[in-house]
Amino acid sequence: MNHLPYLQGFSVKNNEWFVEDVSLSSVAEQFGTPCYVYSHHALTQAFMAYEAACLRPDGSRRARVHFAMKSNSNLAILDVFAKLGAGFDLVSGGELERVIAAGANPHLCVFSGVGKSIAEITRALEVGVKCFNVESIPELDRINYVAQHLNRIAPISLRVNPDVDAKTHPYISTGLKDNKFGVAYESVLSTYEAAKTMTHCKIIGIDCHIGSQILDIQPFLDALDRILLLIAELSKRSIHIEHLDLGGGLGIDYEGEVTPDITEFANTLLNHIEHKGFGYLDVIFEPGRSLVGNAGVLMTAVEYLKPTSSKNFCIVDAAMNDLMRPAMYEAFHAIVPVKNKLLPTHNYDVVGPVCESGDWLGKNRDLAIESGDLLLILSAGAYGSAMSSHYNTRPKVPEVMVKGHQTFLIRERETPQHLFALERRLPEHLD
Ligand code: LLP
Repeated sequence: MNHLPYLQGFSVKNNEWFVEDVSLSSVAEQFGTPCYVYSHHALTQAFMAYEAACLRPDGSRRARVHFAMKSNSNLAILDVFAKLGAGFDLVSGGELERVIAAGANPHLCVFSGVGKSIAEITRALEVGVKCFNVESIPELDRINYVAQHLNRIAPISLRVNPDVDAKTHPYISTGLKDNKFGVAYESVLSTYEAAKTMTHCKIIGIDCHIGSQILDIQPFLDALDRILLLIAELSKRSIHIEHLDLGGGLGIDYEGEVTPDITEFANTLLNHIEHKGFGYLDVIFEPGRSLVGNAGVLMTAVEYLKPTSSKNFCIVDAAMNDLMRPAMYEAFHAIVPVKNKLLPTHNYDVVGPVCESGDWLGKNRDLAIESGDLLLILSAGAYGSAMSSHYNTRPKVPEVMVKGHQTFLIRERETPQHLFALERRLPEHLD
């Protein structure tokens, strides 16, 4: 039996899956498959769950959500969060241009990432991002140099590697000292001292991000305690920190994982900060997955059912290039038929048409299906479309947002011509 994650905005009515008030089969009729489908309601609800902890009863703000746009950077999704008052966490010049195109305020954006280029730093200074989350002394030097050249002051924060084990998949764990991320805990104070001497950098914050799909609050509290110790020590050295960026990382339910409720998670951390006497800090949360993960599905159609002597394969029209997570992390996504049919159930590996054995979307799934049926790959809103590729010259699939009974195409289906439009053949008469 497939585990079904708790999904806001998606439900079964009369044996058929709906997104809000729209049946998924009508979305498939209108836009074809494969296709990503998002619920506006689910996005809003997840954001408001963070906001419930971020706002005090008197309406004053004790924390702000900066959506980690790497998890899903579609302009319409950014627009939804920008209108709700979100800031953004971005990691490239491309993401900066996107967030500006979505109408977001650059002053509410923090720029993270270990390898910022001179061009990226220049653009970020020109548009006036809130802060650079800096990960090394050479990066500090570079930011200072570019800021001096532009006659600006760069607001900076150091990303601390707190060396705590987030107990998640090794590929998405970032806060251990073996990871490439952040400034090593024991070097943080000296790096702040170095930053203080830089003429065109202004220290405003401190930052950490320990990993993703974390199911337990304890590693967050451990990292927080280590950072609060640093803030206290910095203050003794007359280095005053205004904001504390706690990164993202809260996990979601894919296959029955028990995760802290968003509001409870944020409240626990904020109360801990206040309890330890640091209530004056502006706190930033940088969630990605917990805002969008369970707000989106990937809809696909069954092309062929292929029984073999050892296994049954269900070959669908979506593939690893559309949703990379199973191939890359052996990640589990629940898979359900859009319509429940009275058919015999068989056990299948659900696979795509890409020429790789790693091209699977789900293994050992009991499904009552026939060729032509529609399937939903659930919990695909985060790191789904954002990580998709063109492998096998497969055009990227459309994305659709549903709000109530309204359906919006938020990304058109690409054509093969889009994929090679920037390529050039060699000249005709080349020897
Ligand atoms: N802040 C920073 C600095 C990050 O690097 C990340 C994610 C986030 C915030 C958001 O983390 P979240 O709340 O989404 O856990 N592709 C992987 C996940 C990679 C996460 C990278 N960093 C996956 O599909 O599971």
